[in-house]
Amino acid sequence: MNIAIDKAANNQTAAARTIQVRRMEFNFEDINKQNWFRDNPILTAFITVLSATFPPGEQMFIDSVRRHKDFVKDPDRLKEVTDFIRQEAAHTHHHRLLNDQLFKVGWRVDAVEERVANAIKKHNTRFRPITLLAGTVCLEHITAIIADWILNNTEVFENVSPSFVELMQWHALEEIEHKSVAFDVYMDAGGDRKSLRKAMRLVGIGFPLLCTIRTVYLLAKSRQMPSWKHFKEAYQVFFNKKNGFVTCVYRDFKLFYQEDFHPDKHDQVDLMMEWKKLIIAK
Ligand SMILES: [Fe+2]
Ligand SMILES: [Fe+2]
Repeated sequence: MNIAIDKAANNQTAAARTIQVRRMEFNFEDINKQNWFRDNPILTAFITVLSATFPPGEQMFIDSVRRHKDFVKDPDRLKEVTDFIRQEAAHTHHHRLLNDQLFKVGWRVDAVEERVANAIKKHNTRFRPITLLAGTVCLEHITAIIADWILNNTEVFENVSPSFVELMQWHALEEIEHKSVAFDVYMDAGGDRKSLRKAMRLVGIGFPLLCTIRTVYLLAKSRQMPSWKHFKEAYQVFFNKKNGFVTCVYRDFKLFYQEDFHPDKHDQVDLMMEWKKLIIAK
């Protein structure tokens, strides 16, 4: 009996873990005003910064994983690497299209994207390839826990342009599907946990700090002064005790420091099974 239950659970885990490359289409023309995210310039600028970060950031993920592909001997894992690259390339493509629309409604997405790309160029010359892969592992953990928040808190996205919500939910699901690929490749390439934790000390502070600075920069460029009401709402979305963005992300962020951490140990199977049914490829 127990063996049957375990077998069913394992099958579900395997089904959930399958990386599916979906062909998607989004029409971002429903984003037709500057403060398109809940009419709040702070929240809109923050989300816009995330979207501007994805194209150069995900290219870095692809490059660092691809560079270590030869260390991978397991054919199943090699297939996962290929699917990881295809998923990230598709995310980049659609975020570029979204970013074009965000530029049209008044956000200097290009300026943020350029800054991110320049920072990555500097990292590429400064750090060894395995260190860049460690950085990718850290950022993949962060994207997987952000994805968890997106899929578990759909009410935050109520009345937001449907094309954006669909994009983020699709992207979130695929981030969770491929969350262990960079970690496994890093370990195959001889990476060690100590260096990984060291990388997370930099990434865990640098990433949120840079996102905050870039949000302020983007707001300043848009020449908008948020009202007290906007600050209050943004504070609620970020920090409320029950399901605030920072509250939830920080809680799951700490999993990374567990002695035997592996991305799959963060149980997101039920969440993935639910959303695999909801996200329909076109
Ligand atoms: Fe992605
Ligand atoms: Fe990813």
